[in-house]
Amino acid sequence: MNRNELRSREIWDSIYKKEKRRVESTLQVDNEIPRITELFKERNVRRVLDLGCGAGRHLVYLAQKDFDAYGIDISREAIKKAKLRLNKLGFSANLKVGSMTSLPYRDNFFDALISTTTIHHGMIQQIKKTIREIERVMKPAGLIFITVPKKRSKKKIPKERLFGIKFIAPRAFIILGGEEKGLPHYQFNKDLLRKNFKNFKIIKLWVNDKGSYCFLGELKNKVRKFYLFL
Ligand SMILES: C[S@@+](CC[C@H](N)C(=O)[O-])C[C@H]1O[C@@H](n2cnc3c(N)ncnc32)[C@H](O)[C@@H]1O
Repeated sequence: MNRNELRSREIWDSIYKKEKRRVESTLQVDNEIPRITELFKERNVRRVLDLGCGAGRHLVYLAQKDFDAYGIDISREAIKKAKLRLNKLGFSANLKVGSMTSLPYRDNFFDALISTTTIHHGMIQQIKKTIREIERVMKPAGLIFITVPKKRSKKKIPKERLFGIKFIAPRAFIILGGEEKGLPHYQFNKDLLRKNFKNFKIIKLWVNDKGSYCFLGELKNKVRKFYLFL
C-alpha cells in the first residue's frame, strides 16, 4: 500500500471503530441487491467478491443466498466487524484486508463482483488501476455491480453532513470536515463510467433511490496474452 492508501486506512479504521457508522453498520442491503443476486443465480454464479465490503452487510446476504462469498476492505476494523457479524449469524466468508488497487486473487477467479460506494474513494490513477484489477480477477463474461455517488446539490445534503470540500485534481476532492475528513472522492458521471468500464458490456446504467450511479455490466472477451519465445 502506498502512503495515501495507508492514510485512508487510518481514517477508515477510526470510522469503523466508532459504533455509529450509518447504513454500513446495519444488515440492511441496498435495494438493488436482491434483484442483482437473482440475476447471479440465473447466470450460475458461484464465487462473488464484495470489493470494499465494509462491515459486511452485503456479505451476509451473499452467504445467506449460498454464494461463495469473498470480501476485501482496506480497513482492518471493517474486516474485524464483518468477521464477527458473519460468525454471530452462523455464516462464513473469505475475508481479507487489502487495497482495491492490488487484489490478492488469481486471474479469472470470480464469477461476479459487487462494490457499493467504494471505488470512487481515490484519485483517477488509483481507480483506473482498480478497474484493471477487477478485469484481471473476473472470469470472461463475469458480472459486476458497481455503485458510486452522483454529484448532489448542496440543498440535498443534510446540514450536519455539509462540510467544505477542496479539489485536489480534476473531479477529485477531499472533504474538509466530519468523519470522512481527508478522504479522496472522485466524481463520476455516466460518460466517465462508460469510458472507464469500456471493457464491460453495459447491461444497465441508472441512478438509484440513494442518488448513486449503478453500473451493471458483463466483462467482454478478455484480451489473451501471447508470449513469443525467440
Ligand atoms: C462507503 S463505505 C461502503 C462499505 C460497503 N461497501 C457498504 O456498502 O456497506 C466505503 C468502503 O470502502 C473501503 N475502502 C476505501 N478505500 C479502499 C481501498 N483502496 N481498497 C479497499 N477498500 C477501500 C472503506 O474501508 C469502506 O469500508
